[in-house]
Parts: sequence; C-alpha cells; structure tokens
Amino acid sequence: MHDFKYKGNSLYCESIRVEDLSKKVATPFYLYSYKTLIDHFRKLKKAFRSINPLICYSMKANSNLAICSSLVKEGAGLDIVSGGELFKATKSGVSPKKIVYASVGKTQKEIQQALKIGILFFNVESEAELENINRVARNLKKDAKVAIRINPDVEPKTHQYITTGRLTNKFGIDFRTAKNIFLKRKEFRNLKINGLHIHIGSQIIKSAPFVSAIKRVANFVAELKKELIDLEFLNIGGGLGIIYKDEKPQTADEFAKAVLPILKQTGLKIILEPGRFIAGNAGILVAKVLYIKKTKAKTFVIVDAGMNDLIRPALYSAYHEILPIEHRAFPRLRSGQASIEHRKKVDIVGPICESADFFAKDRLLPRINEGDLLAIMGAGAYGFSMSSNYNCRSRVAEVMVIKNKFFITRKRETYNDLIRGETIPSILK
Ligand code: LLP
Repeated sequence: MHDFKYKGNSLYCESIRVEDLSKKVATPFYLYSYKTLIDHFRKLKKAFRSINPLICYSMKANSNLAICSSLVKEGAGLDIVSGGELFKATKSGVSPKKIVYASVGKTQKEIQQALKIGILFFNVESEAELENINRVARNLKKDAKVAIRINPDVEPKTHQYITTGRLTNKFGIDFRTAKNIFLKRKEFRNLKINGLHIHIGSQIIKSAPFVSAIKRVANFVAELKKELIDLEFLNIGGGLGIIYKDEKPQTADEFAKAVLPILKQTGLKIILEPGRFIAGNAGILVAKVLYIKKTKAKTFVIVDAGMNDLIRPALYSAYHEILPIEHRAFPRLRSGQASIEHRKKVDIVGPICESADFFAKDRLLPRINEGDLLAIMGAGAYGFSMSSNYNCRSRVAEVMVIKNKFFITRKRETYNDLIRGETIPSILK
C-alpha cells in the first residue's frame, strides 16, 4: 500500500531511515515516497488499460512541482482549478493538451491565460460561465473546447464538505439545463462543447455511487446522440477513497471492473481526475514532541506541527494514523503498533491558539516522550496544499525520497517570507 515501513524499530521511507533524515531536515516536514506515488498512478493506469484513458492528476491534492512532474513523466495530465495551478502546471512540464480546468469561479484573466496556453478543455459549471468563456475566446479570436460538468444528484456517502454531486451543492449543471445548452450550442460561436464531466465527491470508498452517476451520464450521452449531438470526451472526475484507518475502499481494479462496461458503451475518450488515490498514502507529516502535558482530564502530547500544516482533522474530523518514528522502550506488534498493555490514551495537539488544533483525540498510542518523533500518516494529499501561515508559522519543508536518496522539493519558509509583499503605510511611520 505504501513504502513507509518499519525495519527493526525504525520507520523507513523507502531505503531511508526517517530519524536520520530528521537530523538533516528540521521538523516539522512533509515526506513523500516517490515509489508509492508512482505505484498508485500505475495501478490506476493498468486497471484501465483496455481503454487507455487520460489520467489527469488533480493538482489540488498536492501541487509540489516534484510530485506533479514525477507523474507527468509517467504520462499523466493535470486537473487544475485556478490560474495559480495553471502556472504551476506549465512549470511541471505537462503538455497543455493534457490540462483540464474545473472551478465554479474562473475569472476572465484565468480563462484568457488558459486559452492562450491552449489547454485540452474547460469543465464548465454554469451557463453564465459558458457565456463568459465564449466572450473571452471571441476577443482572443480563438475557439474554446468545453465539457459541461453535470451534477448527477447522487449521494456519494462521504463527508458533507467533500460531497459535490448533489443538487444542493454549488457544482455542475443539472441534466435538463445541460440538454438545453446542447440544443442551443450553436449560439456559442467560439465554443466547441464536446464533452461531459462529473465529479461527485471525494474519499468515496464504494463503487456504487460512481456507477450510478456514470450510468446517468451514459444515458444522457445516448439521449444527446438521438439529437445528433456527438461528443468526444467523458471526464469521470476523481474521488476514489483510500485507507486512513480501517476503511476498505474499492481497489483500482474493482473500480475499473465496475465502471468500464458503462464507459465502453459510450464510445467516448475517457478522462480520470484522481488526486487523493495517487498522492494520499505517498506522504507523511513528521513532527517532534515538544511537551507532554498532563491535566486531570487528559494527557496532551504537544507537537511542533499544527493545524496550519495539516488542517484535515480540524476541518473534517479526519482520522490520520499516528506512528512513532522510533520504538525505543517498548515492544511492538509487527504492524508497528505497541502491544495493548503499553498503550496510553492521549490527545496529539499542535501549538496553535485554537482548540481545533489537534491531530488525534483520545488515541491509544505507545508511551511517548518529549523529543520523540511522530509520523502523521496519509498526509500526501490535501496536507501541504491546504496549509497556511496562520499564527505566523512558516510553511514547512517538503522532502521526496527516491530509493536511498532524498531531495528537498520545497524549502521551509523563512520569517522574511512571512512579510513578503507587506508594507506599512508611509503616514503611519
Ligand atoms: N476533480 C475535481 C473537479 C475535484 O473537485 C476534485 C477534488 C478532484 C477531481 C480530486 O478528487 P480526489 O480524487 O482527490 O478525491 N480537501 C478535502 C478534499 C477536497 C476535494 C476537492 N475536490 C480533503 O482533505 O479531504
């Protein structure tokens, strides 16, 4: 599943002992395994090989240039949601013809940039946006390729904040409105509307919601065909869930087996936009224990990473496994967990001034001492990419391990980075 494994008492990332690395890179830092990243991409590619889809890695999961360019080298395209991601995508070496662009709020400037670069297509989320892209394309004397993002109104059974395919969500266009758009598509003279897109949510662990959404869209493709409307692309989005705790998500093969028959029926070129499935288990956050604080109610393990570095527990009550980087004093089971009698219930918290600043609550963990290093697992997706400077904390370094070598793929920010661009009005001086 991933290449963070114990050898003896020490946690390794591929062939590098994490403790050794943390003597060279100050904690906290994100640590990525190249092999895990690529393995996950290949698993998906292999599962879908019979239709050879374009797999556009969703940059929002982790847009570090090393991560993106590793995947691009493997043949991935990129799924973007902003001008900033477009900028980073171009730096990753991806061909513009492999970039797809979603977002309910693309600005005029962002649309212009994407048209100039010549991306594969926009995933369009409203009629107003369609009109805007048409206008911008006309001014640039270009044609824009567009896929309509359908909101298929299915329940993906995931956290409400990452559910995107219900009609109460802001995303996509309902079937009826979409049909009307296709019927009057000639009015949009600078648009080539030749694709459909869905993305029903994230961390979806069963195939059933995907199957039901894709079936609805496949029926819609057939309905359009009857009106002599031919399409070229079907983009089925991302959303594949991974293991954080004890989930049993569908494997890439199971997912492919469930959806391939419907996808083949459509006869369209298929695009996938996975983020978490590829990057999630390829990264950990390494943190150091600063203090152990015992109160009448709790034992708090205070670490040097905070919710600004990894916001998922605070925002979605997300579970991330926490493992010691070295097992010193106590025996452990093969899984890396200490035997039950040596575990204690603790809260793992950060230094930030918020009670939501925690990584685990009432978690049974091997006895932890000040100075110990901890691995917060499953932090490769939506970890660094959602981090912030809250409490004026510098964003942490990112490190990639390839076999027995490590590379700093993003330097830790300095205090000067914290004031970059800020000025005090001269009249206040
Ligand atoms: N395509 C579109 C249009 C998306 O909106 C997303 C994610 C993806 C693809 C990739 O989804 P994935 O394969 O990674 O599930 N911050 C949340 C997840 C938000 C997902 C937003 N959209 C989290 O930490 O759980």
